[in-house]
Amino acid sequence: MSLVERVRELQGEFIGFRRQIHQNPELGFQEFETTKLIEGKLKEWGIETSPNGEKTGVIGTLRGGKPGEKTIALRADIDALPVTEATGLEFASRNKGVCHACGHDIHTATLLGTARLLSEYRGALAGTVKFLFQPAEETLGGAESMMESGALEGVDCILGAHTWPDVPGGCIGVRKGAMMASSDSFKITVTGKGGHAAHPDRCIDPIVAGAHIITQLQTVVSRRVAPTDPAVVTVGHLTAGRVNNVIPTECVLEGTVRTLSPETRKAVAGYIRDIATHTAEGMGARADIEVRMGVPPVISDGGLVDAVSEAVTELLGPRALVQLMAPSMGSEDFALYMERVPGAYFRLGTSDERPDSHGGLHSPKTLFSEKAIPIGIVTFVGSVFRLTGSDMGALK
Ligand code: NI
Repeated sequence: MSLVERVRELQGEFIGFRRQIHQNPELGFQEFETTKLIEGKLKEWGIETSPNGEKTGVIGTLRGGKPGEKTIALRADIDALPVTEATGLEFASRNKGVCHACGHDIHTATLLGTARLLSEYRGALAGTVKFLFQPAEETLGGAESMMESGALEGVDCILGAHTWPDVPGGCIGVRKGAMMASSDSFKITVTGKGGHAAHPDRCIDPIVAGAHIITQLQTVVSRRVAPTDPAVVTVGHLTAGRVNNVIPTECVLEGTVRTLSPETRKAVAGYIRDIATHTAEGMGARADIEVRMGVPPVISDGGLVDAVSEAVTELLGPRALVQLMAPSMGSEDFALYMERVPGAYFRLGTSDERPDSHGGLHSPKTLFSEKAIPIGIVTFVGSVFRLTGSDMGALK
């Protein structure tokens, strides 16, 4: 029986895992039941497991039956979002106010299925596979915790996937290079001199200085970064003053920065510092700037994307492969693994005939095509065989 036939035979079980996880969603670092389910299944299939330190999440290790040098890590994030589900599905969330609105239930079921299938094909596998069931992607901190627990020890490369409503269910979306943006945040505290609103000449108005800083920040993307290099600088939070007739002492603004390259990421942080410092200074105020570096951009290694693409076309046919034209300006802590080892990140198509499957991620109504699960499993298993140099013939 071929891999595709075997996955088809077992897909009801994998969809069952997805629905069970979907019905019982858990927030970042609270995925206790989800972790228990994953751990139990991995053990049942003879896969060695190790905990994610004291935290939720689990690492599985499968050694192939044939000699092989390579170790491939496969990662799924397992956490849900603080969203109240409104899909009306019969297996909708039973945990009020928590929902798998980002499709991490699909990721978890897909990686579970991959583990099951690879354990069945163990005899033909020349190499080692590590399964990273990572907690807390949405809240951040999950990838770091996994790396502290040795998730990348001995690993040569890593693959990850995410659901994507812009790609039809049953297809895999790939792109070489930038896939997702970096995400950093900044806080600028402008300090002036407070006083009576009728006597601005005796004050230094931090609100006017802050307003100028916000306007000047618009020139970072329009005048400093190349038009061919996407970047976003958004001020999303502004606080100053309490009443109309007092000039306050302080104005605080906070924002987010998204870029698609490490160089632009670093440069933009510098531009923000310069603009805030000198604009405030020029108006007699002072700006204290805090830039919090979040996650770098997700940049897929070209050679690894080729391996994934070849596995898809070889096992599922060329029509299952979609070339993604543009990256997303969203972010993903998968990028942190990619700082350590080369990686590729691909999309699991999840749209179908239902209008709500075409909406955006994180929406309470988004529906996901479960076709993504068997297609994702075949893609992961085939990619592992290609990357370890195992005999692809064993899968056909
Ligand atoms: Ni997500």
